[in-house]
Amino acid sequence: MAPPIADTTAPAADSNGTPAPSIAVPQKADPIVNGSVASSYPDKYFVATSEMAQLSLPADSVPYVSGSDSSPELPRRRQPSQRIADDTVMFDPWCDPANPRTLHFQDVCEAAYKIKSGIMSTPCTRSYISEECNMQLFFKKDYMQYTGSFKERGARYTLMMLTADQRKAGVVAASAGNHALALCYHGRELGVSVTVVMPIIAPIMKVQSCRNFGANVIVRGDDLAQSKEIAMTMAKEDGMMYINGYDHPNILAGQGTMGLEMMEQVSNLDAVVVPVGGGGLIAGVALAVKSLNPNVLVIGVESEKCASFSAAVEHGSPVHTRCHSTLADGLAVPLVGVNAFATAAPLIDKMVQVSEEQIAISILRLVEVEKAVVEGAGACGLAAILSGALPELRGKRVVVPLCGGNIDTTILGSIKDIMHERAWIRNDIYSVEVKVVAETINAAETYRLRDALCTAYEFVRFGPVCGTYD
Ligand SMILES: Cc1ncc(COP(=O)(O)O)c(C=O)c1O
Repeated sequence: MAPPIADTTAPAADSNGTPAPSIAVPQKADPIVNGSVASSYPDKYFVATSEMAQLSLPADSVPYVSGSDSSPELPRRRQPSQRIADDTVMFDPWCDPANPRTLHFQDVCEAAYKIKSGIMSTPCTRSYISEECNMQLFFKKDYMQYTGSFKERGARYTLMMLTADQRKAGVVAASAGNHALALCYHGRELGVSVTVVMPIIAPIMKVQSCRNFGANVIVRGDDLAQSKEIAMTMAKEDGMMYINGYDHPNILAGQGTMGLEMMEQVSNLDAVVVPVGGGGLIAGVALAVKSLNPNVLVIGVESEKCASFSAAVEHGSPVHTRCHSTLADGLAVPLVGVNAFATAAPLIDKMVQVSEEQIAISILRLVEVEKAVVEGAGACGLAAILSGALPELRGKRVVVPLCGGNIDTTILGSIKDIMHERAWIRNDIYSVEVKVVAETINAAETYRLRDALCTAYEFVRFGPVCGTYD
């Protein structure tokens, strides 16, 4: 069973141990009581001081925040300042490395009760690949949630647990995909103003979907780390709560509800094989499963391109890990969550890593055999099984969450159409003329593509550039 909650003394110093006098932080972090986080924070988390004033907007900043006009009840927000965030701004009192929180089973049970009416209890059905894998394999189909991933569980629960003042101030998050979609959708459902900062590499489709939910969507930051800085700066400036998508205690509790459902849906379960990014999903699921039956094996799967949880296990605590681009973009988290690690690490029996090829094969097998469109991160559990890395599961009853279906079409499907033309090429039977319709993320990318084509090929006719960019 999980150890008790660590002493959650107030964040009186930053991560370097330097006192943080410029921002009034709560004197005692929120203990988790009866499954909910009982707030002992003042109405506003942070009290502005003269130093905070430096964070204010430059007068000449260009507006770029875009929200849907169809949701007048959700106020539009101004843009964040250009300032580079310092350690104080980047400190999240909910996810304090000096005081990691370990979740309790009761937290997951309360989350399950609270989100029941707003989240789909997804099917967990026997897979057609069972025989091929020599086990009784069940897929927990969370890609069927409304926004296509399990992230809705934690997002909804966290939004439901906001105090009246927190609801009024709204929430902010940084995400390239599933967490953003989940927050934007449930924010609209629950009447909470949501701001999401998405990196410029975020798939166009996901950015647009977030906007369609009426959220304030800011596309800024070369990567998620930069987007997070912007989001946390906004949180401090505007008094919004920053919601870490894989480490806020209520996010973990919400994700754990998937584990409760697995235990309910599959009798005599022997093992679960769970994809690991920041660690929030496996923390919640492991807690639920092990609490109900400590004999169930909990196996975590990472992309070998970003093995940050394994690195944390080796190091003894979360540690920055180099990540490379991966088909499992949802798992590309260089630093796992402190609460997630504290909760999950003692409960995980084994970690395995999967290659890009194994992930790609799993995505294809799921389409072919299960008729399921599952994104790279969501296919990693099956990838681990197909890779042969888990021989101990032969003959066992195993659940694999297919936890997301939002395939990044900008990466996997940026080529919208290809037409081959041979009929009118007379001189050279080895040549072909190709007409390509491609989608790019912005104008700069379009012209980079044109330059690359012109460098590589003798005859290039670059057609009209259609559509709009932010
Ligand atoms: C589809 C999918 N699966 C798994 C994960 C991993 O979840 P966590 O970051 O909580 O470990 C993510 C994270 O975004 C995801 O989107």
